[in-house]
Amino acid sequence: MCGIIAYIGSRRVTPVLLNGLRHLEYRGYDSAGIAVLDGEQLQLYREVGPVAGLDRAVPKDLGGNVGIAHTRWATHGGVTRANAHPHLDSTGRIAVVHNGIIENATELRARLEREGVEFRSETDTEVIPHLIRTFYDGRPLEALRDALRLVSGTYGVAVLFADHPDQFFVARNGSPLVIGLGEGETLVGSDPQAIVSFTRRVIFLNDGEVANITREGVVTSLLDGAIFAPAVEQLDEDWIVEDKGDFEHFMLKEIFEQSQSIHRCMRGRLVASEGNAKLGGLDLSPRDLLYYKRVEILACGTSYHAGLVGAMAIERLAHVPAAAHVASEFRYRNPVIGPDSLYFAVSQSGETADTLGAVSEVQVKGGEVFGIVNVVGSSIARTCGRGTYVHSGPELAVASTKAFTSQVSALLLFSLLMARTRHLSPHDGKAFLDALLRIPRQVESYLQDPGPLDEVASIVSRARYTLFLGRGFNYPVSLEGALKLKEVAYLPCEAYPAGEMKHGPIAMMEEGTPVVVIVQDDSVKDKTISNVRECQARGARIIAIHTQGDHEAAACGDISIAVPRTLEYLTPLLTVLPLQLLTYKAGVLLGRDIDRPRNLAKSVTVE
Ligand code: F6R
Repeated sequence: MCGIIAYIGSRRVTPVLLNGLRHLEYRGYDSAGIAVLDGEQLQLYREVGPVAGLDRAVPKDLGGNVGIAHTRWATHGGVTRANAHPHLDSTGRIAVVHNGIIENATELRARLEREGVEFRSETDTEVIPHLIRTFYDGRPLEALRDALRLVSGTYGVAVLFADHPDQFFVARNGSPLVIGLGEGETLVGSDPQAIVSFTRRVIFLNDGEVANITREGVVTSLLDGAIFAPAVEQLDEDWIVEDKGDFEHFMLKEIFEQSQSIHRCMRGRLVASEGNAKLGGLDLSPRDLLYYKRVEILACGTSYHAGLVGAMAIERLAHVPAAAHVASEFRYRNPVIGPDSLYFAVSQSGETADTLGAVSEVQVKGGEVFGIVNVVGSSIARTCGRGTYVHSGPELAVASTKAFTSQVSALLLFSLLMARTRHLSPHDGKAFLDALLRIPRQVESYLQDPGPLDEVASIVSRARYTLFLGRGFNYPVSLEGALKLKEVAYLPCEAYPAGEMKHGPIAMMEEGTPVVVIVQDDSVKDKTISNVRECQARGARIIAIHTQGDHEAAACGDISIAVPRTLEYLTPLLTVLPLQLLTYKAGVLLGRDIDRPRNLAKSVTVE
């Protein structure tokens, strides 16, 4: 989704901004632009399409040491140069980049038009520079504050005034901004990724805060003008972005990183002697854990699928009722927040607007939410206050892969912790930990020899429709497989609980319809095989993801793919791998833009 990078210092600003924009490309965007002050001359360049196009359009000798830049993912108005950011006021001396949505833009626009302002774009953002202009009397910060007081909605903004070439301004409400403090230079990014190659000393701006940025540093204040001293933090070195290495795409690299990322998520969190786990960030004593009677998990997309696995594990292992909820539905259904329920918000980016909204709804009603988040210092992590980082490392492909297995791992550790405060014996806890510890090696061994996925990819990429089936722990995995295939390969497919398939999707079966079924050697194996037979009887072509050595399950597939054997609870960590790879291979076969699929954004900061 939209990205911001801004800089002031002694370097030539254009390469810094373009480089920052490249680091934000992974978020998904459709146009990009920069505004630079060369003396008091404001220079504006905007282009539709990749940052590389903008790079070609910007004169190589463009001077100036201060500027703001943006990648836009269209919400209000089509993908055009005029709608790309930065947007200017009518004198062309105030430039604004904006992430978020101004909800009262229509009303503000009408008011400004009545006052004679001519708009040049269809965006909600353009009201901001015009509003600032109406308040501007030579004092930029005051004009920005006055303008923002009229705005409702979400924003992360950076504002450049041609009259003030030695500074720029930023403000946040619901859309993240991080300020990087360098030596004689200061940067602002919507994402640490954009600034981490310059500095790891950062300030995370909170909602309702404004900052005046100079090359010497920052003055932070609230919208009402009160100045405060911000907390300066050190970014984790995990944030340093590596390149694709020997891999052709980040998605493939991230799939192959999963043995390390799962290991990182577990590192320091296993108490082998007690057959238990510890999750320090939750700061919950065994007595606290005993108090909770329900667990509710809030998330979107892939994180929701990880939440479904987690809820099932908590219920089965700890015997505590648990459920996962799609955050965008949860937040608007006026949910009852039980005083003895524990809530988790699961999010890779930590910036997903719907998940953040669900967190607020729980908090407003007095509930406590813990974060299970990848991005350190992100909005969800900070809003929750307590939680667990999953330590996947930067996930740059838009389609989430390694975050899923890390989120599942973190939720499995929590299930163990919860179960050990109740009925689970140290012996059974140890068996669970032993199996968990074997997972990274099993991931590695599967990825070395993933089975006939090229053949499956070729079948699926030519099919009119593909059905994914699973039961129990592997129903969420089948959902994840279908989500990936839609996102990256744009192929029509859906996922169903295997037992539910006969209540509808069975009508889709015809000669050769591919059905990818996860049939593990677990408590629901026989039932799943019966469902496979029902599809086969109608001509379906079965691709069975089965447990290594399980000949009966292997035999029910026209094509069989074996994954290593593990405990039923842990199977999603392995069964998801062939589905991720299948999508990757189908996407490559169809010539898709693997790391940046159309219409998608990495962090979805709007509703
Ligand atoms: C799937 C995908 C999305 C995200 C969803 C939630 O590949 O990337 O479905 O999982 O937008 O994002 P986070 O986890 O950042 O809250």
